[in-house]
Amino acid sequence: MKTYLVTGGAGFIGSNFVIYMLKRYKDIKIINLDKLTYAGNLENLKEVENYPNYVFIQGDITDREVVSKSFKDYSVDYVVNFAAESHVDRSIREPEVFAKTNVLGTVNLLNCAKEAWLDGEQWKPGVKFLHVSTDEVYGSLGETGYFTEETPLDPHSPYSASKAGSDLMVKAYGDTYKMPINITRCSNNYGPYQFPEKLIPLLINNCLNHRDLPVYGDGLNIRDWLYVEDHCKAIDMVINKGLCGEVYNVGGHNERTNIQIVKTVINYIHENVDKSVTEDLIKFVEDRKGHDRRYGIDPSKIKNELGWYPETRFEAGIVKTIQWYLDNKEWLEGVTSGEYRNYYEKMYK
Ligand code: NAD
Ligand code: DAU
Repeated sequence: MKTYLVTGGAGFIGSNFVIYMLKRYKDIKIINLDKLTYAGNLENLKEVENYPNYVFIQGDITDREVVSKSFKDYSVDYVVNFAAESHVDRSIREPEVFAKTNVLGTVNLLNCAKEAWLDGEQWKPGVKFLHVSTDEVYGSLGETGYFTEETPLDPHSPYSASKAGSDLMVKAYGDTYKMPINITRCSNNYGPYQFPEKLIPLLINNCLNHRDLPVYGDGLNIRDWLYVEDHCKAIDMVINKGLCGEVYNVGGHNERTNIQIVKTVINYIHENVDKSVTEDLIKFVEDRKGHDRRYGIDPSKIKNELGWYPETRFEAGIVKTIQWYLDNKEWLEGVTSGEYRNYYEKMYK
């Protein structure tokens, strides 16, 4: 039985990953370590919370005692590090916490893993540290070309700079101490449990509340969208089959301009939920500072070497996603009350 220490497993991708893994494998144990910031939510994990092979620990990845105790209490084989501050707009307003959690938190995890796993020169057999990163560390593309694993790091926002910093620390532990590591760099995810500060759930929530749909700049920035379950599948494959020390890009060749995304959400809601939701709700607003123009992943390496491929086409994934938010209005109301309202006021006033 392999034991996974999953950090940030109460956030969007982390909770999808915990559920995906526990449903797929009966012979694993998952220890979920999450601080439960505004982005973490135990409601996401209701369907697995009573599984005998699942443990939740509320804790901060920057806290040496908590992390070290988690390694001591459980015989951890794999670390999957999702824990992070993840929203670009917040990083532009408050960069410090991004440096603290994303860089120092990752270093603390690496240190505790090394302490638990390294005996003299010998690493405990079969262990691995998988760091979940992002295509944003590569910077921005022009009209052509894709990010490969060899693309130089060129982050622009405090968020992506902090992720690049953490990637390099993970690489350094691999290079210096021979720690068995992998880094995955995925494009934009969408799906259930995504916090409505991010574009797609924000649009859905605003449509349902007849609120303006804020589009930054000219709306022609491009993101490469991947259904969250396909990202979870990729991480599972990299843990189990990835060559130690390697970076794997994850993406499904699904590029869309932001305005295309906005119109897709409006059209679905207009046709299926509420005829009064129309393109009149679109409001072009001031651009994000340092806004990356285009992301596009070349996923050849993970496809050719590990046999990964995305299963959910965007057209099906976006319908499943909108439908999930419609079916889970209580969840949406829960996460958009309180602090979210202050955030929204400040951000979009
Ligand atoms: P999220 O913001 O939804 O969730 C982050 C989780 O980390 C939350 O549960 C939060 O409570 C937890 N957390 C934050 N600070 C912590 C700390 N100090 N200690 C312990 N837990 C802490 O983020 P997400 O969208 O699920 O992203 C997860 C990871 O995947 C991040 O590392 C992000 O950089 C990466 N990623 C995200 C995307 C995307 O499109 N969302 C794409 C590629 C990579
Ligand atoms: O590419 C992977 C990254 O994708 C992850 O590393 C990040 O954690 C994740 O947040 C996401 O970053 P983006 O900045 O691309 O996602 P976001 O949903 O914030 O924005 C998507 C695009 O939509 C971006 O071009 C900005 C634009 N946007 C966003 C918001 C919230 C708007 O036009 N209006 C908005 O209100």
